[in-house]
Amino acid sequence: MNYIVVENYEQLSRKAANLIAAVVVTKPNCVLGLATGSSPLGTYAELIKKCEAGDVDFSAVTSVNLDEYVGLDGTNDQSYRYFMDTNLFSKVNIDHSKTHVPNGCAADLAAEGARYDELIRSLGGIDLQLLGIGLDGHIGFNEPDDCFTAATHEVELDPSTIEANARFFEKKEDVPTSAITMGMMSIMQAKKVLLIANGAKKKEILEKSLFGPITPAVPASILQLHPDLTVIFSEN
Ligand code: F6R
Repeated sequence: MNYIVVENYEQLSRKAANLIAAVVVTKPNCVLGLATGSSPLGTYAELIKKCEAGDVDFSAVTSVNLDEYVGLDGTNDQSYRYFMDTNLFSKVNIDHSKTHVPNGCAADLAAEGARYDELIRSLGGIDLQLLGIGLDGHIGFNEPDDCFTAATHEVELDPSTIEANARFFEKKEDVPTSAITMGMMSIMQAKKVLLIANGAKKKEILEKSLFGPITPAVPASILQLHPDLTVIFSEN
């Protein structure tokens, strides 16, 4: 594991963007696994700058996002599709038809999960997967459980996740209670994994995940088994 501690969020964002840019530059038609939430916002802003400067070309890149709320479609401004379109895709030269987010409005979510896994497989897997980490140790929306789930699947959100994500909604009752998330198989099969975390409140769960026992009770702990994991942490 490559564990990088930096001084602030700006440094974290620049380093993460540099690592992602390096993958795109060395493999222009790479598959990027992307995340939403507050952690990657600075990284995406840096990638936009690099694209505007002509240093990174996203035109041949394909992206697959980790997750989506059940019941929110891409026109809903709280959906993860909307987040990605607004914070990255509309601001870089990626081909929108090559950007993928699980469909949280699919009538059959199990079939949607199978379709998403097949899509990732048909793309040849993920070259770099960007991850944030939840306060309960979730990655994607793989919540603490008795077992690790391999496939893309529907998940009930943990009360602590609903609480944490309420900041993005008008009121807590508006936060969807379930989501569809990439499972551990696609994440663990990514050639590189880049986990970013910032803020003192993430320190304890990050250390538990990276240095504690590997257990589905702490979903991110599975990353200890990944052969090419980079973690960037900033306490500030
Ligand atoms: C988002 C995702 C989540 C977040 C995590 C941290 O697509 O999959 O696992 O990465 O909840 O969220 P933030 O960055 O908002 O603290």
